[in-house]
Amino acid sequence: MKTALHIDDATILASVETALAAAIDARNLAPRLAEAMRYAVLGGGKRVRPMLAVRCGLAAGATDIEPLLPAAIAFECIHAFSLVHDDLPALDNDDLRRGRPTAHKAFGEALAILAGDGLQSLAIEVALASPREPARIAREVAQACTDMITGQVLDTLGGFPESCTQPADRLARIHENKTGALIRGACRAGAIAAGAAPALLDRLSAYGAAMGHMFQVVDDILDETQTSQTLGKSAGKDKAQGKTTYPAVHGMERSRQFVQQLLQEAERALAPIGSEADPLRAMASALATRTH
Ligand code: IPE
Ligand code: IPE
Ligand code: MG
Ligand code: MG
Ligand code: MG
Repeated sequence: MKTALHIDDATILASVETALAAAIDARNLAPRLAEAMRYAVLGGGKRVRPMLAVRCGLAAGATDIEPLLPAAIAFECIHAFSLVHDDLPALDNDDLRRGRPTAHKAFGEALAILAGDGLQSLAIEVALASPREPARIAREVAQACTDMITGQVLDTLGGFPESCTQPADRLARIHENKTGALIRGACRAGAIAAGAAPALLDRLSAYGAAMGHMFQVVDDILDETQTSQTLGKSAGKDKAQGKTTYPAVHGMERSRQFVQQLLQEAERALAPIGSEADPLRAMASALATRTH
């Protein structure tokens, strides 16, 4: 019997791409808005969040990709929105994203802001179209999005709560929110879309939390060690902008150790799950060692 575990990455990526385009085309949007939203979300990006959502859903027993796609692409829409706004002059002020001019460079600031807004609300519409647990999945999307915004505020403007004074704690707080929340949420939403039992959902949630934190530590390392051409976004900017990053707070060697610790944490979360979690194990090690 051909099981869902044999579905390969290319098939998932193609389905995600088609579903993202269809979600925008299904709405009667102002043509300029649709163009800017398509630019922001299509034809680029590693698709880590939708891939994790689909892989978690398959690990939780889904036999087909299709019912997992609303949860998966909702998170990619929120992610694309976060990138468009992250690049704005008021935030990181970046010109390059996914190897192309940033949305505000291509469309102007007003349309970039509005395209980000549109992707955020489209994500909720899409999540509510999930064939299973639409309200729960929409809540996961909305909560993760709000947490991401909290992380962006702490990253960009600071203003930590009184209880969070140590640099290492502040750093973890930023990363768990600005990046960890969407990655953890994508894992949870994929599992929920597959009808995961509570114990398995908790495991995949813990896996997602470790993966999300790890993903941003690696992003911080790559910002210092790779070229803009490799990354498709401007390298070396964190230092120039005085960002609170792992290499800045802990140094490069300890940052790499943190990646290994978080990788082990992700693997531990999967330990009681059998071979159905192998694609998730493979993703964990691939994302720990990625170079772009
Ligand atoms: C970049 O995310 C922003 C972070 C949260 C680190 P990705 O590295 O997933 O960006 P794309 O989607 O592949 O462009
Ligand atoms: C990204 O953090 C967090 C987001 C919510 C987009 P960064 O600012 O480090 O992401 P990049 O390096 O610009 O992709
Ligand atoms: Mg940023
Ligand atoms: Mg940035
Ligand atoms: Mg970065």
